[in-house]
Amino acid sequence: MGHTAGEDLEGKTVVYGVTGGIAAYKAPLVARGLKALGVDVHAVMTHAALHFVTPLVMRTLTGNEVHVEMFPETMGSSFEIDHISLADRADLFLVAPATADFIAKLACGMADDLLSCSILATRAPVLVCPSMNVNMLQNRVTQENLDRLKQRGFHVLEPTTGELACGWEGAGRLPEPGRIVQEVRMLMSEHDLSGIRVLITSGPTCEDIDPVRFITNRSTGKMGAALVEAACIRGARVKVVSGPVAVDYAPWAEITSVRSAREMLDAVKDCLGEVDVLIMAAAVADYTPHTYSTRKIKKGEKTAHIELTSTPDILATIRPFKESKVFVGFAAETDNLKTYAQDKMVRKGLDMIVANRVGDADSGFASDTNSGVILSPEGVMYDFENMGKDLLAHRILDLVKERL
Ligand code: C5P
Repeated sequence: MGHTAGEDLEGKTVVYGVTGGIAAYKAPLVARGLKALGVDVHAVMTHAALHFVTPLVMRTLTGNEVHVEMFPETMGSSFEIDHISLADRADLFLVAPATADFIAKLACGMADDLLSCSILATRAPVLVCPSMNVNMLQNRVTQENLDRLKQRGFHVLEPTTGELACGWEGAGRLPEPGRIVQEVRMLMSEHDLSGIRVLITSGPTCEDIDPVRFITNRSTGKMGAALVEAACIRGARVKVVSGPVAVDYAPWAEITSVRSAREMLDAVKDCLGEVDVLIMAAAVADYTPHTYSTRKIKKGEKTAHIELTSTPDILATIRPFKESKVFVGFAAETDNLKTYAQDKMVRKGLDMIVANRVGDADSGFASDTNSGVILSPEGVMYDFENMGKDLLAHRILDLVKERL
């Protein structure tokens, strides 16, 4: 079954608990982010949360009634016990922000409001996102409560560090809504690549001329980042060897930052023994300056020459260590896409090559979409036209999975 990136949680239900901390102001954005993934969101708010965000906002953004009362004065048309129906309906419970008080309640198994009662009654996984003053967070009571929750299988998204609304600096900030949504997505996705170890190279390399100048290319790392996120979300253990980029990689991956082709080769060699799949999405420089000048080269004559030597071909160098690993390469071409890519795949001993058309605004470097073809030694596996890099990443992983 192929994955549809962006909407792969269609039909799933999240019961979203909002408790009464100042970070509740981020709750509407979390709800919106979940809806954008196709999730059916049912908000449950504690009484304290009502001081920070109104049920009207949550109801409008989720498209569902907001639950607050354990003993509502008016019942819906069907006879449902709210805490049981919420508990049963949830594919996941999310609590963000989770206050110290609410965490203490969960740790003790208390059930004196609708949210705590529903969580006690659910069999669904629970993701707790603590947010509070740094001293409350670091208090041994809170730490022990969080440890107890983790030991019992609750998922905890650690708060980030920075300026807190109360004026203190330190740990206790609720992660940004996008980060919370990303964690939910990870927990709810099918982990069909669980146990698979994937190494992904990404971004450009930079070949230094002197302390000021270097040779590089237009790669931004967007395709690599999409592959990293997709592989992590599907449960793979992901290592990344990345050239200098501005993109953020998914938080679950282990990143090694490198600069030159030579450094990338060394880092790939270091990791290779422990991987099942290598995806070489990096745009590795083909040439590097023959010598590096430690002093800035001064402007002089009208013409200047930099002598270049070829960089090591990473795939060719590691080919003898391929064994049963799946090797995927990339090719960026402006013309003769299939012919050049086919030749590269054979020369580099690859199981698959993703050939991208470059030179158009909507394909290749810096763009959010790609056009091209995926080839294997047996022939064309997949043609793609203006396809989002997220979706293409999932398609590449689907094809890799078939070869494992
Ligand atoms: O030969 P070309 O650079 O077009 O091949 C592209 C593929 O080879 C990509 O997967 C790229 O990461 C990889 N490559 C490499 N070592 C190089 C140059 C490219 O492994 N020096």
